[in-house]
Amino acid sequence: MSGESGIRWKKATARAHSNIALVKYWGKREAVPKGLNLPATGSLSMTLDRLHTTTSVAFRDGGPDEVWLGGTPAPGPAAERVSRFLDLVREQAGVSGSAVVRSWNNFPTASGLASSASAFAALALAACAAAGLEVSREGSSRLARMGSGSAARSIFGGFVEMLPGSRPDGSDCYARPLFGPDYWDLRLLVAQTTSRKKEVSSSEAMRRTARTSPFYPSWIRLVARDIREAREAIGRRDLDRLGPLVERNALAMHATALAADPPVLFWSPATVEILKLVEGLRKQGMRAYCTIDAGPHVKVLCQGEAAPEMARHLEACPAVQRLTECRPGPGAHLLPEQGLSGSCEGVGESGSSTDL
Ligand code: PMV
Repeated sequence: MSGESGIRWKKATARAHSNIALVKYWGKREAVPKGLNLPATGSLSMTLDRLHTTTSVAFRDGGPDEVWLGGTPAPGPAAERVSRFLDLVREQAGVSGSAVVRSWNNFPTASGLASSASAFAALALAACAAAGLEVSREGSSRLARMGSGSAARSIFGGFVEMLPGSRPDGSDCYARPLFGPDYWDLRLLVAQTTSRKKEVSSSEAMRRTARTSPFYPSWIRLVARDIREAREAIGRRDLDRLGPLVERNALAMHATALAADPPVLFWSPATVEILKLVEGLRKQGMRAYCTIDAGPHVKVLCQGEAAPEMARHLEACPAVQRLTECRPGPGAHLLPEQGLSGSCEGVGESGSSTDL
């Protein structure tokens, strides 16, 4: 292919959906080669249908890498992170060209809505396709993991398990699909409490937790047990078992982080207000359970049939700025090309920049 001024282009566009961990990844293996980004434990997630990132990558013969997030040039550190990630692809594919990357989220960035998961999953798929590199789903998951741990899970749809692996080179550390998106009509109601970016990155917060929290060793043991139980509960479509476990696991993650030195506190008063609201509704017989990531937002897990009532309660709660009801969503996939100069304009509904 040939673009403006005779530059040779090879372009691909991919979409990946965000995912929310039902059993959290919180801590990396230490003393492994930099860049491998290996988690200390497994994790288990649900991919979301409504929140996604769309990314196009085009390789060309000359010039530096160019990275556009939500229609504007990426700030230096984000652009460098993308370039480092692309180097992995260039190295594997034997491609030496520079890349033009355009990425759009249809939801707010870097505030604990798991945007790095969809961002690096979409980037992995688009970059490999643009570089002409054929990679298995497992290989894409391994690659996405090097961008962001949770991104490995966004390669797959539905309910997904991340395998921690044990090899020092990370070759056995990738995600695998457990059940597809149509397996169980569960909903995650994403209650956004702010559009502000989080103050501490999840990588920094994990490092601090692993190095200083006295609860960290117990957390690591807990996750292994919770994954086994969550897998079984999902296998039986048993929300009465899965729900309480999901909420306990998230609270344990935050308790471990809170005990770090200095402490890591992602919550705001709005977070507690929603937790208390859901607790109160449970006392009245509603089957709904909370989970919280590296930010103040709360995601509420319930069955499809309970979702309309749950949504009404959350929408009436002053702590909730915006509510997005998500079902289990699809895995990452390539999109048909829109032409040589086609960008991703128009694909991101609210067009916020991607958390790269
Ligand atoms: O993938 P990262 O580095 O953004 O870390 C994700 C951390 C959590 O969202 C809190 C938990 C998870 O498993 O997604």
